[in-house]
Amino acid sequence: MKQLRSLTFALVLPVLAAFGQPNPSPKKSGSAATLAGAAPFPVGAALSPRYLHKNRAYTDVAIREFNSVTAENIMKPRGLSRGRGQYHWAAADSLVAFCRQHNKQLHGHALVWHESVPGWVKSFSGDSAAWEGILREHIRDVATYFRGKVRSWDVVNEAFSDTAGRMRNSPWRQHLGDDYVARCFRYAREADPAAKLFYNDYSLESDPAKLAAALRMVDDFKRRGIPLDGVGLQMHISINTPEAGIRKVMREMAGRGLLVHISELDVRINTTKDSLLTETPALLAQQAEKVRQVVRAFVEEVPPAQRFAITTWGVADSNSWVMNWRKQEDYPLLFDGNYRPKPAHAAFIEAVRGK
Ligand code: G3I
Repeated sequence: MKQLRSLTFALVLPVLAAFGQPNPSPKKSGSAATLAGAAPFPVGAALSPRYLHKNRAYTDVAIREFNSVTAENIMKPRGLSRGRGQYHWAAADSLVAFCRQHNKQLHGHALVWHESVPGWVKSFSGDSAAWEGILREHIRDVATYFRGKVRSWDVVNEAFSDTAGRMRNSPWRQHLGDDYVARCFRYAREADPAAKLFYNDYSLESDPAKLAAALRMVDDFKRRGIPLDGVGLQMHISINTPEAGIRKVMREMAGRGLLVHISELDVRINTTKDSLLTETPALLAQQAEKVRQVVRAFVEEVPPAQRFAITTWGVADSNSWVMNWRKQEDYPLLFDGNYRPKPAHAAFIEAVRGK
């Protein structure tokens, strides 16, 4: 009993302590509108258990502003796989529970990604049939486990490189050839026939060769009946990204009948990698204008039935991957370090309202 009590304290106290921290109350923007409340399509955020339920302001904004969620890391192969046929589901289960409790759709990210190859797979040795076996098993096990819990999957993430639209030479391609991507979609559909299946990539708005390669793949998949429902345009952009490319990729993909997910939106303001950069009103205004352009393009180029969602890659500037992972001083999201809505938040809402 004593042990149970100390265990309870050990588990509960840190949570209470985290919730007891000063909570910078979000200042209302021009109107009290929220992103999801204003938009006629789902608006999402990538969420991480590093912050969810541990940081009150993060959790409040996630609950209030978004009606769609993407798992930032925990549903990637390295987040789930512990060995062949061995999985760690607990973190993802808690995200599923959060989404159910707060009535949010959950987008699975990602079944196959070259940057998230588990250690045991890296050292796997076997012929091409054996490699096909482990790929198929992973997709089958994970997509089956989350059947009915996720609405959709990024089946393959970033299969194209940044060089002339060539396929990225991931371990999967090395062992299975270019057409492994198509087979991933077939395996995912077998495991979860109801989930919407996406191909997800970055720079399609700014790299014409990569866009051309992605469009060739989409056309090829359509011809061959490969079950691709939509495309995720990550949209990790900066205030300098030209609007024309943003519009073009949405028009091209929508014109092919695909669902379009702006899947990882953020807009960097630090275009010179200045380590002393601060968020000046002028830079934040440029960022707001870029967000407005993205949302306007989505509304104007993508027919309503094909607008899957716009998802921001994180909640607030203080937990964006750009600072934590790219180690670059920046302020790329719609909420600031104190979880207050930025000018980009107001611009998003104005753009969905046709302003
Ligand atoms: O959780 C550990 C922590 O315990 C440890 O102290 C720390 C030390 O570095 O690492 C923490 O894990 C990091 C994790 O982010 C959580 O912050 C990993 O090292 C780091 O690799 C991981 O980076 C993620 C990255 O994908 C690689 O998986 C970013 O959070 C995530 O935002 C980023 O997301 C990708 C999309 O999946 C695909 N598109 C691009 C996007 C941005 O790179």
